Amino acid sequence: MNIPNYGRVGRGGKVGVPSESYRYEFDPADRPLILQVLGNKPEPVISLATSPFLEGHIDGVDLNCGCPQQFAMDKRVGAGILRDPELLIDLARQCACSIPYPLSVKMRLHEEGPQTTARIAEKLHTHSGVKAVTVHGRYWWQKGVNRGQCDWKAIETVRKLTPASLFVIGNGDVASYADFERYRVESGVDSVMAGYGALLDPTIFQENSINLDQVISDYFEIAVRHKNSFMHILRHVHWMIKSRPYQDSSAVHARLFSYKTLEQIQTLLRDELDIHVRLPCVPQGESRIIYPKGASDIVDPKKLKLYLAKEAKLERKKKKKKLHSNRLPNCEQPEPLDWLDEWMTPIEKPND
Ligand SMILES: Cc1cc2nc3c(=O)[nH]c(=O)nc-3n(C[C@H](O)[C@H](O)[C@H](O)COP(=O)(O)O)c2cc1C
Repeated sequence: MNIPNYGRVGRGGKVGVPSESYRYEFDPADRPLILQVLGNKPEPVISLATSPFLEGHIDGVDLNCGCPQQFAMDKRVGAGILRDPELLIDLARQCACSIPYPLSVKMRLHEEGPQTTARIAEKLHTHSGVKAVTVHGRYWWQKGVNRGQCDWKAIETVRKLTPASLFVIGNGDVASYADFERYRVESGVDSVMAGYGALLDPTIFQENSINLDQVISDYFEIAVRHKNSFMHILRHVHWMIKSRPYQDSSAVHARLFSYKTLEQIQTLLRDELDIHVRLPCVPQGESRIIYPKGASDIVDPKKLKLYLAKEAKLERKKKKKKLHSNRLPNCEQPEPLDWLDEWMTPIEKPND
């Protein structure tokens, strides 16, 4: 699980605590559940990991040392913290000492290569008490259009150069169920993780694939019933229909991102892809999430994103005011998913 915007240090150095806007539904079937955090200071990580609202619901904490965006590189968080291994090793040590869960680290390859990556991973294990590392076999500049191929040879090197007691998970370009076993065996890692592959086809975790149209239809109904945010639903539908052949896909995706109601998605799926989805009734008094007024005029997805982020900021301010006046906040507004988009935005390669 990933809690956006948590741990921003406010004026006076106070660490933000989850407000009611960060309400999560926990499902006992969703275990093990790992909380992932991005940062370079131990206090917010420790205070979040030990928050009462997570107690009994999570099984581990993972430090995100893989986010390659410019803000992360500049602020020495995500993949940026790999440039300051001492800071990372100290952060991990302090966190591991103070949280009641096993700590793991998800990292990209260090820019000096797999040997340096392995040295950092080893120190994290032997000095900081980190139990597992996930190695994404790409460098920080490999993103967006420059994503390139994952370097599984580099992952293999990291596995070979680190102690066997460190659990190493390989990550990158896993596109099918068969890939899991193939990459695991070839590289010698303990386990394998999938990103894009699972977004395109969530059934890759099982040997016998399920018809993707049925998955889309089931997903839609379940997500609506559980009142997932509109943006979440739209993005997952967008990923899943990407792996399905159909006419004029870019026009369909552009239209999808201009939508503001679930009914519009339902119609598009039916008319363009012959996928029939049901819209379950949402309990009375709990309105379905739709974009704020005005968003319908914005067709450009980037502008829409900026608009929604601005709206959400205003909404948060309003909620804060309401909280102070002891009234219930409106928790139905979608949270901006900036963190999700940032993973997909290409930025420039380093000059050196
Ligand atoms: C939409 C999207 C969101 C992601 N969010 C995160 C994240 O929050 N934390 C993280 O460690 N990695 C995140 N990743 C990276 C993936 O976990 C993974 O490392 C990367 O996509 C490489 O694996 P793949 O080639 O199988 O996609 C994200 C990837 C995508 C596509």
